[in-house]
Amino acid sequence: MQSFIFHNPTRLYFGQGQLEHLKNELSNYGANILLVYGGGSIKRNGLYDQVITILNNANKNVFELSGVEPNPRVTTARKGIEICKNEKIDFILAVGGGSTIDCTKAIAAGARSEEDIWDIVTKKTSASDALPFGTLLTLAATGSEMNPGSVITNWETKEKHGWGGSPYTFPVFSILDPVFTKSVPRDQTIYGMVDIMSHALEHYFHHENNTLLQDRMVEGILQTMVETAPKLLEDLENEEHRATVLYNGTMALNGMVSMGYHGDWATHNLEHAVSAVHDIPHGGGLAILFPNWMRYAIDENVERFKQLAIRVFDVDPDGKTDKDIGLEGIEKLRAFWNSIDAPSRLADYNIDEDTVEEMADKTVIANAEFGNFKKLNRIDAIKIYTASL
Ligand code: NZQ
Ligand code: ZN
Repeated sequence: MQSFIFHNPTRLYFGQGQLEHLKNELSNYGANILLVYGGGSIKRNGLYDQVITILNNANKNVFELSGVEPNPRVTTARKGIEICKNEKIDFILAVGGGSTIDCTKAIAAGARSEEDIWDIVTKKTSASDALPFGTLLTLAATGSEMNPGSVITNWETKEKHGWGGSPYTFPVFSILDPVFTKSVPRDQTIYGMVDIMSHALEHYFHHENNTLLQDRMVEGILQTMVETAPKLLEDLENEEHRATVLYNGTMALNGMVSMGYHGDWATHNLEHAVSAVHDIPHGGGLAILFPNWMRYAIDENVERFKQLAIRVFDVDPDGKTDKDIGLEGIEKLRAFWNSIDAPSRLADYNIDEDTVEEMADKTVIANAEFGNFKKLNRIDAIKIYTASL
């Protein structure tokens, strides 16, 4: 285990009825609020009306930026930055899923910078400040509600990049009520659950020694998801299952289970390149790519794949080689994601060999190699995409 410093400043309100704390949280900030949301789900499920009532009762001047896209666009972030600068916004409130929150982080950083936000996203320059913002999360998936990361797409150049990791882009508070997530449709629920499991898997593959507790915590997230996902899909309005998945989503990417080591993260890079070219849902892409990355990477450390197979997927090790045990674990992950109707091939999104090279180009724009557990280059990316067709 490496030495580490851990500090997560986001105040988390979790559970039914926690929206009651919003007014008090907002009392710490000035009157001008930018409300950021997506394509209208919060209007359909009634959350928008509840939030507006609270903002009015708190005597706030409310400005709105709606229509944040899944895979949020830099153009939308720029619109928000303009509103912040023109209207002297004091605080941004994001109400939605990871896309709305990620866009809000870009707006918050861009509002306190003279640089174009795309130069910050592409790390040509870095954020040195940000407007304060809070979130009401409506979809369990990304962990963006309690981490500083953000993923932004430039549709003109077909690029999608993660940025953040700065102290400025943690939400100051996040309110997570499982009731807000009850209206998430079946397909988005599946993508979110795959994303949560993928964050756990990205953590799991590292070369650090003596991460006993971390391993068990990550395995715990995976086991809890394997146990809960089918039950939630049987009963999408079940608040207990929604709460379990919601808590898992936050824990999988708020830094709590990943202290003292660096996970792999190549599969996220591979997926972001697919989304950049084809605009597919993040979790859908991960469901396709992760088992193929695992098969490609297994020889880096067969022991870890074996441990995962036995502890999470109950593979019986008797009479098998370590590699066969590891491979069986990968097959069980694939079978599990198939059983919850997650996509398994790029063809499910009508992606064929024609764009494999273009996607591979996108994986190596920033750096020639990517991935911490197994270093990958453009040729490796082509092989993994080809295996995923
Ligand atoms: O836009 P609206 O109308 O709100 O509808 C959304 C959207 O269509 C809908 N939705 C959200 N909450 C709902 C709901 N529909 C009904 N009821 C509700 N309660 O779901 C759709 C997808 O929303 P989106 O925010 O795009 O999903 P998600 O939370 O999965 O976010 C995906 C984005 O996050 C990035 C991904 O790359 C992708 O761009 N990621 C961000 C990370 C981070 N910041 O830490 C890490 C992740 O690995 C990921 O890369
Ligand atoms: Zn993810």
